[in-house]
Amino acid sequence: MTVRVAMVGCGFIGGIHSRALRGLVRGGLVDAEVVAFADEDVERARAFADAHGAVVATDDPGAALDGADAVWVCTPTSEHRRLVEQAADAGLAIFCEKPLATNLDDVEAMAGMVEASGVAHQVGLVLRAAAPVACVRDMVQQTGRPMATTPPGRPMAAVLRDDQYFPDQGQYGSTWRADVAVAGGGTLLEHSIHDVDVLAWVLGPVEEVSAHTANFAGHVGVEDVAVVTLRHASGATSSLVSVWHQILSRPSTRRLEVFCEQAMVWLDDEQSGPVRVADAQGERQVTAITARDWIGELAVPMSWRPGLAAYAAAGRGLACRRRPARCLAVGARWCCAPCWPPGWPLLSSGALPRSRCSRAAPATRPPAPARSESSSSATAGGVLGGGLSGSLTARRLRRSGRCGR
Ligand SMILES: NC(=O)c1ccc[n+]([C@@H]2O[C@H](COP(=O)([O-])OP(=O)(O)OC[C@H]3O[C@@H](n4cnc5c(N)ncnc54)[C@H](O)[C@@H]3O)[C@@H](O)[C@H]2O)c1
Repeated sequence: MTVRVAMVGCGFIGGIHSRALRGLVRGGLVDAEVVAFADEDVERARAFADAHGAVVATDDPGAALDGADAVWVCTPTSEHRRLVEQAADAGLAIFCEKPLATNLDDVEAMAGMVEASGVAHQVGLVLRAAAPVACVRDMVQQTGRPMATTPPGRPMAAVLRDDQYFPDQGQYGSTWRADVAVAGGGTLLEHSIHDVDVLAWVLGPVEEVSAHTANFAGHVGVEDVAVVTLRHASGATSSLVSVWHQILSRPSTRRLEVFCEQAMVWLDDEQSGPVRVADAQGERQVTAITARDWIGELAVPMSWRPGLAAYAAAGRGLACRRRPARCLAVGARWCCAPCWPPGWPLLSSGALPRSRCSRAAPATRPPAPARSESSSSATAGGVLGGGLSGSLTARRLRRSGRCGR
């Protein structure tokens, strides 16, 4: 069955998702089709529809949902709840961008609603699919990947610096991130929700939080500096420095350093790495799966590779080849919890029993279209991922009373 996707919100991330989906479909990796585009600016929806050969271009999200099996909610944050509710009512599988909502009450209502409705659902915390980040986690947790010649020992501390220019300019061709009513907050909620998710993913559950924020740009309620300290249940401590500056040559980059008892593991960029380790034997680079590696192994015609490489890089989703069929989470059919990579939370906190999925998961991946020689993986996993925990954690930072906003 071809999964029919409706894309609601045809801006920056809607463009990445729709192009990624198209590349994956053309590569024979998924059996899906974006059939409808909705945007309050109907010209945008029309441009997307024309580029994708979709029939429906509308400014009415409800019209886009008609006849779809799954929806990608890619509008600014304040619109998410209404659209997710609409999609759940219609019984569609839902991918909703992060942050789920501008406040915790909405997040909890959304999670409860999708759980109750039984639709497949996920939120776009994508860094778990970034190969260098996954590599660091594998090394720190000693799962799956060879690493230091001696065991790293217990994780002790981590430092994560995340900076980008204030995202109301440049590649972000819109200004809503300067409006707290739409964005819900600034660098911590809108951007570093990814980082809180990564730190909890690498070092385990967070038990205690303290934070300070500052506002240099002067947009009310939209912090552009956040310095956060997290104490993890494992005993490790991590610190996050998140900055939205005005250095237009720095669109977005992260440096992560993790100190374990016997090894230090770090990456200089969450997309391109490299990942390095220093232990008693010295310092060396560790191989993470890169876009180049992945594309090189993908059996698609040469002419398709540059495009797919762009999708892979844009989606930062290169760590999925170990679990091919499980990562093909386009639409409903592979979204059930049993098919999802371990540790990837769903939009709601609980796992979704297969029996409650509105469309049963197939036992195996469907055959690729005849025009493709493709096999391996990467995917919408590149642009999917993450969970409710990030949203909740960000809100808890503010509830801690030690957050300056
Ligand atoms: N996962 C990630 O890495 C990532 C990256 C960027 C953005 N995001 C998230 O994606 C969401 C969208 O961000 P963006 O950068 O694409 O914003 P954007 O401004 O570029 O695009 C949003 C689009 O939604 C349209 N829109 C607004 N309200 C609408 C409505 N009610 N119905 C239909 N269309 C509507 C706008 O006209 C615009 O075209 C935000 O929640 C953002 O936080 C996630």
